[in-house]
Amino acid sequence: MLPTVALTALALLPAVHGAPSSSASLHGVYKRCGAISQYYGQHQADWDTYDTQGWLDSWWTNNTALMHNNSVGFAGAFGQWAMGNPDWSCQDDGSSTDCDLNLCDNRVLNSRGKDIRPAYYVLESVNRLHTYFGGVREAFDTAGLGAALSKDQWATTFYEAPDQRSVNILKEVLAALGTIIGIGASFAGVGLPLLGVSEATSAVAGAWAGAGAAAYGGGVTAANIMIGPHADDTFQKSADLGGILGEIVVDSIKSFTSANNQLVGGQEYNNEDIRSYLSHGAFLEFQGVDKNAVTDSMTAMLVGTSINQLYRAQKVFILGGGSCDDNEGIGSGPQDAKICRDGKAWYLYYWQEDDVLSITSHQWGWVISPPGVSQLGQNEFSDIPLNVSDIINSSLDAFNVAGYNYTTATAQSRAEDAITKGWAIPGAYGAAWEGIFTVPVCDVSAAISSSFELKQFILQPYGHDSRPCWCGPICSGDLQKTKAFIDAANMGGFDSPKHLCNSDPGY
Ligand SMILES: *[C@@H]1O[C@H](CO)[C@@H](O)[C@H](O)[C@H]1NC(C)=O
Ligand SMILES: *[C@@H]1O[C@H](CO)[C@@H](O)[C@H](O)[C@H]1NC(C)=O
Ligand SMILES: *[C@@H]1O[C@H](CO)[C@@H](O)[C@H](O)[C@H]1NC(C)=O
Ligand SMILES: *[C@@H]1O[C@H](CO)[C@@H](O)[C@H](O)[C@H]1NC(C)=O
Ligand SMILES: *[C@@H]1O[C@H](CO)[C@@H](O)[C@H](O)[C@H]1NC(C)=O
Repeated sequence: MLPTVALTALALLPAVHGAPSSSASLHGVYKRCGAISQYYGQHQADWDTYDTQGWLDSWWTNNTALMHNNSVGFAGAFGQWAMGNPDWSCQDDGSSTDCDLNLCDNRVLNSRGKDIRPAYYVLESVNRLHTYFGGVREAFDTAGLGAALSKDQWATTFYEAPDQRSVNILKEVLAALGTIIGIGASFAGVGLPLLGVSEATSAVAGAWAGAGAAAYGGGVTAANIMIGPHADDTFQKSADLGGILGEIVVDSIKSFTSANNQLVGGQEYNNEDIRSYLSHGAFLEFQGVDKNAVTDSMTAMLVGTSINQLYRAQKVFILGGGSCDDNEGIGSGPQDAKICRDGKAWYLYYWQEDDVLSITSHQWGWVISPPGVSQLGQNEFSDIPLNVSDIINSSLDAFNVAGYNYTTATAQSRAEDAITKGWAIPGAYGAAWEGIFTVPVCDVSAAISSSFELKQFILQPYGHDSRPCWCGPICSGDLQKTKAFIDAANMGGFDSPKHLCNSDPGY
């Protein structure tokens, strides 16, 4: 406890370090508010620096009776203890003032001595967690999804093969949905001032680990409950996927945000209580959900996942691994569609089969850009941040983690691991996040030093007369990998890439 003289002196100083979210402020100069003023301008790290988690745990233990007695549980009890306001409910019940903080000159709080700081941090954090849940509800806007994945839009744009494989495609999209909603719920909590600060990303991700994991788990659980009734939906190629996904997303988010009331009441939601969400000061200086960023990222991930399922059912693949300059004796890909990453060139391909009976070389088909790629960025897709660079980055990252075996289970555990351990903020990547796309990758760079027959045609530009020749184990110089690639790209038993080879390449 500071001597009274010191407290008085501090109280007389104008608090120039900033103020809590809802304190009275006038052009940056704050009126004196008592001892509380000295803790304004709080930062996320202060939570751990002053062991607020330990303090809150101790408060929680000491005040279980008070929480049980209060009709709104934890928030009411804490409001009573810290501010003399037992009606501080922070419920989502239509009231816009039930979570307000009127801390300036608050007699109860200002008399709490050494507990003023931690009590203030908890009050601010709970208030901002309440803001987070409100923001999440507004950020999961499904208008873009509805347009991009509408009846006659999605499948007909990105799918050409006659075989529809329809039921499996829908099931896979639904299986991925929980992970994406979890990523979105977690991403929404990263907050406005922290986005776009790339050098701070890992620190942010680390601080957000506990709360992010809780939000992620909550989102996944909410989505899985809502997916249940849709799991056996029948689906045709032209089904209204945007409608189905939109409905599940909206219902999932309603269910997730109702968690607010349970958490502020002191109950658990998805095995976590409010302390998990507040840990490491995740909400201590939270400035609100960046709704556009969350909406864009979520929409791109959901549309990307849906397109990926269609691509995985067609002859769509990625070749590359050579120098960005090409000219290494293995042919050159389509230069204007080249994605250069870490000094290596990668190309997204589709092997188009001939659609008319032909005895010319066109009977072997040709390579072009996959169906729908030219539509990205246009019309219904104009507001969706998703391009070839995202498709390649996401697929390469997935390939580097699990080869051709990157499943929805892999996606779920990788996203959870990234958020929980704080090595990435998946939502910040949008459609470029690992595993949103899992287009099969073949690294052809080993062919540069090989003696494969016709190796100068391994890579080809796009075009009606472009037919690559793969007369050896083109993927990493490894026959098993090449076979796995051929199968993953739906080219098992497809003779076109090897019809000019003098000897069977073995795949
Ligand atoms: C909880 O009670 C213990 C024992 O009385 C006390 O030392 C501690 O400061 C209390 N914690 C809080 C946060 O009030
Ligand atoms: C809880 O309520 C009961 C009955 O009104 C009262 O006797 C008790 O003192 C209260 N306990 C606390 C911690 O407020
Ligand atoms: C793809 O979009 C990202 C941002 O979403 C942008 O940084 C990148 O330049 C785009 N790449 C291409 C090839 O258009
Ligand atoms: C793809 O990865 C490269 C290299 O890591 C990066 O420069 C580029 O911005 C990424 N593109 C997207 C769309 O994320
Ligand atoms: C993928 O699965 C196949 C068998 O299905 C296995 O041979 C291969 O090693 C796996 N690859 C990776 C990278 O896990």
